[in-house]
Amino acid sequence: MSKTDVNDSATLKKDLNEYEQHYFSSYDHHGIHEEMLQDSVRTLSYRNAIVQNKDLFKDKIVLDVGCGTGILSMFAAKNGAKHVIGVDMSSIIEMAREIVDLNGFSDKITLLRGKLEDVELPYPKVDIIISEWMGYFLLYESMMDTVLLARDRYLVEGGLILPDKCSIHIAGIEDAQYKDEKLNYWQDVYGFDYSPFIPLVKREPLVDTVNHSAVNTTRAKLVEFDLNTITVADLAFKSKFKLEAKNQDFINGLISWFDIEFPAPKGKKPVTFSTGAHAPYTHWKQTVFYLEDDLESEKGDVLEGELSCTPNKTNNRDLDVKIAYDFKAKGTESAQRSKKNTNSYVMH
Ligand SMILES: C[S@@+](CC[C@H](N)C(=O)[O-])C[C@H]1O[C@@H](n2cnc3c(N)ncnc32)[C@H](O)[C@@H]1O
Repeated sequence: MSKTDVNDSATLKKDLNEYEQHYFSSYDHHGIHEEMLQDSVRTLSYRNAIVQNKDLFKDKIVLDVGCGTGILSMFAAKNGAKHVIGVDMSSIIEMAREIVDLNGFSDKITLLRGKLEDVELPYPKVDIIISEWMGYFLLYESMMDTVLLARDRYLVEGGLILPDKCSIHIAGIEDAQYKDEKLNYWQDVYGFDYSPFIPLVKREPLVDTVNHSAVNTTRAKLVEFDLNTITVADLAFKSKFKLEAKNQDFINGLISWFDIEFPAPKGKKPVTFSTGAHAPYTHWKQTVFYLEDDLESEKGDVLEGELSCTPNKTNNRDLDVKIAYDFKAKGTESAQRSKKNTNSYVMH
């Protein structure tokens, strides 16, 4: 039996549906945790936010929702928490046990294996919740649902959630070459017509790093969430946006990204980070929605639209995204250049 193959869990994996089993298995391997730990924008933001709120952590009970290798639990314990409870369903928690012990935190950190929804905490209430729950396009993986459940079940009145604010943003990009390569590849695969793949590829948003110079419109904030007050129902959202072309170019798709903010002591600037193309690299990269049309823009042309995002009915960790757009070109050949369309995507 491998070190991570332990069955002592509040949730039996075999009782979970296939999507849930697959989801938690994806966090069993150390590789994904290495990627997250090495994302220093992500990991240091959590550390900085905990250090900044050190006075609030002193002698407090902290819950780390989805503790993985235990990094956030150890940041909290090192910065004055009285006790930290780390919960994770994936077998990586067995490595966290060893690491927590090796680093001398066994008496300060209790690690519980199982789904947060099923475990029994050693304390009825906690003062602080920390969690790194964000997925691609912020909401992919639907782990925020679990954080909100933890808040409602365990957080004391007026308790702290780290992070507690997040927002999703959107802008237009020129990306003709890559879009063309991705789609047209299927026209001729070793001499065979593979074009039935094209609609599938179009429906799937692309997670990749986008060069900031490709952004050719203004940006817009789609939605903002305050984890202190939102409910799971708020995570299915519909939002209008309005972007303005910055120059004469083609708008081939839309990129989206999210920003994160931690609570800060009164009078202090909060720790924040962005996953946008304008910001330093994070493992979340950006999410690209290629549009059905390549919009030929002149400076000042307006791309209005509405983006709706709902958890997928079959697997609620996947997202159904719909983008309706109305590109209103002005000036030369405005009628031919103006385009209206609705594109549907599934993130899975
Ligand atoms: C994005 S990782 C973060 C890991 C760690 N906190 C870190 O910052 O490196 C999310 C972790 O949450 C766990 N997780 C997700 N949903 C969970 C749930 N409902 N109950 C317990 N663990 C969960 C996953 O297994 C995964 O290890």
